[in-house]
Amino acid sequence: MTQSIYEQLGGEAAVDAAVGIFYGKVIADPSLQPFFEGVDIEKQAAKQKAFLTMAFGGPNNYTGKDLTTAHAPLVARGLNDSHVTAVLNHLQKTLQELRVPGYLIVEVMKIAETTRNPVLGR
Ligand code: HEM
Repeated sequence: MTQSIYEQLGGEAAVDAAVGIFYGKVIADPSLQPFFEGVDIEKQAAKQKAFLTMAFGGPNNYTGKDLTTAHAPLVARGLNDSHVTAVLNHLQKTLQELRVPGYLIVEVMKIAETTRNPVLGR
C-alpha cells in the first residue's frame, strides 16, 4: 500500500466533506459550545481543513500556530480530556457516515489521538 491516507480517503474533496460534517457535529455539541463563543467558524473550519490535510499525509500547507499555543487559553478556561474525547468521537462518526472503510478510520484516529497531549498542553 503506497498511497497516503489522504489519497486513500479521496483527497481534497473528501477532506472538504469531512470538515463540513465534522464541524456541524462539534458546533451542535452543548459540552463544546462554550469554547467556540466569539470564534469565526468559517476561519476555524479553514484552519481545521489545513490541519487534517497535513495529518492525513496530504500537501503540507498548514502554517497556523502550534496546537499547544492555539489551545492554551481554552485550557485555562477548563478544556480537558473529556472535550478532546468528544471531538475525536465526532471525527470518528463523521468518517463512518462518509462510509470510509474501517481500517482507514483506525489509521486516521491513531493520528488524531496524537494531537490530544499537545492540545491539552502536556
Ligand atoms: C482534538 C484535537 C484538536 C485539534 C487537532 C485541533 C486543531 C486546531 C487548530 C489547527 C486550530 C487553529 C490554530 C491556529 O490558530 O492556527 C484550533 C483552534 C481552536 N480550537 Fe482546536 N483542535 C483540537 C481540539 C479542540 C477542542 C477539544 C476544542 C474545544 C471544544 C477546540 C477548540 C478550538 C478553538 C475555540 C480554537 C480557536 C482559538 C482562537 O482562534 O481563538 N479544539 N484547533
